[in-house]
Amino acid sequence: MASIKVLMFGDIVGRVGRRAVVAVMPELKKKYKPDLTIANVENLAHGVGVTPSTLDEVRQAGVDFFTSGNHIWDKPEVVMMFEDKNLPLLRPANYPLGVPGRGVALVSISGNRQILITNLMGRVFMPQQFDCPFRKIDSILEEYKEIPRAATIIDFHAEATSEKVAFGLYVDGRASAVLGTHTHVPTADAEVLPGGTAYVSDIGMVGAKGTVIGVDKKNILKKFLTQMPAAHEMPEGGVCAVNAVCVTIDETNQRAVSIERIYREVEII
Ligand SMILES: [Fe+2]
Ligand SMILES: [Fe+2]
Repeated sequence: MASIKVLMFGDIVGRVGRRAVVAVMPELKKKYKPDLTIANVENLAHGVGVTPSTLDEVRQAGVDFFTSGNHIWDKPEVVMMFEDKNLPLLRPANYPLGVPGRGVALVSISGNRQILITNLMGRVFMPQQFDCPFRKIDSILEEYKEIPRAATIIDFHAEATSEKVAFGLYVDGRASAVLGTHTHVPTADAEVLPGGTAYVSDIGMVGAKGTVIGVDKKNILKKFLTQMPAAHEMPEGGVCAVNAVCVTIDETNQRAVSIERIYREVEII
């Protein structure tokens, strides 16, 4: 069986998360030998958004391609970054027409092969008015149906596990993997669905332990106790949880063979 391996990190949060990816990449590359490594970078720059230098840091570490989510616009320079049509960064595909950036990409890997990657936002518990992700994935798969490729990978960035599970079942058999992001909390439901789509509700974050989804707990606890707004402070160091998955795909039929959860802890000084 000709197979390919895709390694994907969940939301990388701030400096601690970036440093942890740099630290674990050599070991993960050696162990899994991925054909493509993806990461969600919506929280890359101090917890919100992405900048040229922070993206560069994880690219240098060997991450090939990047997805995002609702926080993609939080650093305004991303609009300028999207002027580079070859930038290996997606924003969700179901933003309204005309929004900067792209939500779908064909990525070349070794052996003259291509992988289709797309990024979609869920709508449940999200304040924005996104286009329907279910109808959007139908139109994307229709648009690319004649394009030969080794795999189709979807980052489904959503809050509600119900919407994520429903989306996975909706897509089952039509994509190689539906990998959930956004909540920063890993779920224990990684499996290959009956139609051959690898699925996980949430990969989980690459971010500091002992925090509230990557943010220093002090102000967040105060916010819950007082209902007053609180500044988000990012930890400068500490033990970082690294959550990722490795999906193995049979490239002859694009079906997933397995999905494996990866967890590491790294001390960041
Ligand atoms: Fe996030
Ligand atoms: Fe998000």
